[in-house]
Amino acid sequence: MPDIESLLAQMTLEEKAALCTGATAWNTTPVERLGIPRLLVSDGPHGVRRVADPTSMTIKSLESTCFPTASCMAATWDTELLGQMGQALAEEAIGLDVDVVLGPGANMKRTPVCGRNFEYFSEDPFLAGELAASYISAVQSKGIGTSLKHYAANNQEHQRMTVSAEVDERTLREIYLPAFETAVKKAQPWTVMCAYNRLNGVYGSENPWLLEEILKDEWGFAGFVVSDWGAVHDRVVSLQAGLDLEMPGPRPRRVRAVVDAVRSGALDEAKLDEAVRRILRVVFMAAETPKGAPFDAVAHHALARKIAGEGMVLLKNEDILPLKGGGRIAVIGRAAQEPHFQGHGSSHINPTQVDIPIAELEKLAGGAKITYHEGYPADDSSQPALIAAAVAAAQAADVALLYIALPTFKESEGYDRKDLELTAHQVALINAVTAVQPRTVVILNNGSAVTMSDWIDGTAAVVEAWMMGQAGGGAIADVLFGVVNPSGKLAETFPLRLADTPAYLNHPGEHGKVRYGEGLYIGYRFYDAAERPVLFPFGYGQSYTTFAYSAPKVSTRTFHDVDGLTVSVDVTNTGSVAGKEVVQVYVHDRASSLPRPPKELKGFAKVALEPGETKTVTVPLDFRAFAFYHPGHGQWITEDGEFDLLIGASSADIRCVETVTLQSTLQLGSLLTRLSTPRQWLADPRGKRVFNPLFQQLLSAMAASFGVDPTAGDFNMDAMDYILDMPLGDVLDFQGDALPAAPYEIVEGLLAQVRA
Ligand code: BGC
Repeated sequence: MPDIESLLAQMTLEEKAALCTGATAWNTTPVERLGIPRLLVSDGPHGVRRVADPTSMTIKSLESTCFPTASCMAATWDTELLGQMGQALAEEAIGLDVDVVLGPGANMKRTPVCGRNFEYFSEDPFLAGELAASYISAVQSKGIGTSLKHYAANNQEHQRMTVSAEVDERTLREIYLPAFETAVKKAQPWTVMCAYNRLNGVYGSENPWLLEEILKDEWGFAGFVVSDWGAVHDRVVSLQAGLDLEMPGPRPRRVRAVVDAVRSGALDEAKLDEAVRRILRVVFMAAETPKGAPFDAVAHHALARKIAGEGMVLLKNEDILPLKGGGRIAVIGRAAQEPHFQGHGSSHINPTQVDIPIAELEKLAGGAKITYHEGYPADDSSQPALIAAAVAAAQAADVALLYIALPTFKESEGYDRKDLELTAHQVALINAVTAVQPRTVVILNNGSAVTMSDWIDGTAAVVEAWMMGQAGGGAIADVLFGVVNPSGKLAETFPLRLADTPAYLNHPGEHGKVRYGEGLYIGYRFYDAAERPVLFPFGYGQSYTTFAYSAPKVSTRTFHDVDGLTVSVDVTNTGSVAGKEVVQVYVHDRASSLPRPPKELKGFAKVALEPGETKTVTVPLDFRAFAFYHPGHGQWITEDGEFDLLIGASSADIRCVETVTLQSTLQLGSLLTRLSTPRQWLADPRGKRVFNPLFQQLLSAMAASFGVDPTAGDFNMDAMDYILDMPLGDVLDFQGDALPAAPYEIVEGLLAQVRA
């Protein structure tokens, strides 16, 4: 790595400004006279989308492996496996001469209708953060960079370039930022990509609070911030806010604006220098990785199949799966011939090969007689003849396999879904087939939750196969025939109805703003708190075997927050085939000064077990597993008290509970102010000590003025409740001249005692 400071000193103002805006759609600007090479970036996240000509914004790219998209990756709950995928992505980047892969996406699935949910991991920030961190660490371990995106609160496609997400700070800190925070702190992505949208009125590209204060200062991010493609509106304002690299280029006017702003004194050159430093560091880190070595496409295809198999979720199974092979199988649904294995938009990969589901099925079907009918049209039309043919085939078979893909016109980057249904034709098809063939298995391809109430009852089994990558066709066959025992679990809740979803009344917003009115309560946090039934809960997924949980243990019953603890449980495979279980640990705070969701995921582990085998699973829980963000204190805090550790097979299937007692080590300042109310004074330990004598006098005075005797029990304090929520000074003012001093002087005196 050359000496960055000396290079910086040699660069002209024009060269520095040019480095901070792309030269092409995918390159930074090289400075040949100083030996500064160009950096080449490519999408991400589930494959390397390297376009042959970097000056072009074409979607068509060189061949690379299309791995399953993030929904499927997340459903594996397997950080080790994501690591393998990250390494494979890096090998492909090396082979395709790419320096930085634009991914992963760590945005929360706030609502299942977000058209881009297929590119995001989860509704849970802990799970998304752990997965993003292992993806990033693995890619970067091979000398290829990543771009963690889209920072922040980019949770819908509707008006994504302009909409302002209106989010309170606690919700940001606890829900929308932690996946980014974990990934930055654990894995140090080389770059972070800002989001298109605004946050509380300020563009992601112009937000110094997000880019400087939180990302760089608080979390210690050492890489550079790149704009999402076209997210910069004012290059000078964005530089000032900490947006280091604008993409795409060329944008000569933007470069000139930066030069002019420095010359006129409107932009401090030190700001520009800092961006240049950050970009140069990554440019030279990337240059250290030799490129060009071809990657092993066959091995990566096999890995893509493995990940797809591990991510598929067995949602329903009434003694039909795994299939035995032989007999007559009616394969219905065009997705069996034309697999829907990735989403539409910037992440679109040109695959090295594609498994055709029906062909893969034939290979494992043990000589079964297989028929095929397309079942539904490619568009939204209704074609009864297709249904009639499918029904006849299903009737003549021993089992019907329905391959149903949610079409791109219903789900894609660029727009949100209008509903959570399959197409009307697909629903009619499933119902018609299940009416004649009870042994019907539905295999779904989609990027986020769909509703099923209109058709699920007639089916014998449902497999959620997601956008499963280029080898997904083989992975479906593996799962159907039990070559792979399904172990995927939902990383997002499947609701019964769209109207049940947490953001239903607050999406897509109005007049340019979308208010995150549900606050902390997204995903299972909402369904738990509102006690609302769901179709399939977060963390859910069936297996061909069964698991028993026993002997839960904690490393200590009483602990200091900073020390954390570990919780363990024995898991036994009680069935007759090998399988994998995802053990989930949720934390429930029994009492807290601010409301908290009923439970939150804070640890998980995936364990492989032979029949009859038992393994002990141990999960560490640290300070943050118990803390919440207190906007008054402006920090993560813990409070003394009891916590339940819920160990479960899903968020709705808790198998063991251990209760522990936390002792907080924090010395928090008092939040009392001039305007605090008696209730707040009494809730504050130091406040209560200094205020209580006066409070007792106030009570007596109030009782006297109402002509009642408080000791006789006929003074109903509850009826006076509202007084407890008035500013103390105003309550005192009722006492008139009986007070020894002016009301607010008394309050100031109490405050001085509290702070002393
Ligand atoms: C997407 C990014 C992507 C970029 C480059 C944008 O429209 O939001 O995720 O990396 O384009 O293709």
